[in-house]
Amino acid sequence: MQKSQKEHLYKILVIGDLGVGKTSIIKRSVHQNYSPNYRATIGVDFALKVLNWDADTVVRLQLWDIAGQERFGNMTRVYYREAIGAFIVFDITRPSTFEAVMKWKEDLDSKLTLSNGTNVPAVLLANKCDQGGELLMNNGLKMEQFCKENGFVAWFETSAKENINIEEAATCLVKHIIASESDLLQAEVSSTVSPQLNSPKNSSCSACFKS
Ligand code: GTP
Ligand code: MG
Repeated sequence: MQKSQKEHLYKILVIGDLGVGKTSIIKRSVHQNYSPNYRATIGVDFALKVLNWDADTVVRLQLWDIAGQERFGNMTRVYYREAIGAFIVFDITRPSTFEAVMKWKEDLDSKLTLSNGTNVPAVLLANKCDQGGELLMNNGLKMEQFCKENGFVAWFETSAKENINIEEAATCLVKHIIASESDLLQAEVSSTVSPQLNSPKNSSCSACFKS
């Protein structure tokens, strides 16, 4: 007899300033290729990444590749609707894109919350790490602090060009989404069955906050 397969479909946002590498990260992750040519995304693009999560679970990530220039428009509220996780990307060679990370995070958190009022899990990607960027990156502790202060569940140095940490970041985000989903379920169960029951908070992830 065949065991029934569980399927999850998650809408994931990929946001960050112009040219930081969002489309390239998605291309690397979904199609295993990379192009050095830059063609700005207009509006939003979509891609589907399928992960064989474990023996009986398939996870489908619907990746929403939102153009960097959309931060200045008023469509993000529409694009964010019903997303369940996010990557916020910056380019380690351009400090202004790191400053914009907070603006993206604020935009996201002000327009999107889960049904229990918490923010969706967001992972910070320091992209183009093949370019060096020691100045910004050799202080992992500072990045960890930044993540804690700004509500990121984890951060990764990535390179779409060299295929560094792209899969690891996706796995980490999915782990946090699954944890936040089970928190939501617990909250629902405890509010309908036993109002006194507290939902356990356990969203730690072995891939996160590497020192
Ligand atoms: P918008 O669509 O305008 O928001 O930009 P984007 O964030 O989608 O950037 P895109 O992926 O188009 O990449 C911009 C440029 O950076 C392209 O020329 C890419 O080839 C380059 N790039 C992307 N990722 C990397 C990387 O990891 N390393 C290096 N060296 N270049 C990269
Ligand atoms: Mg793009």
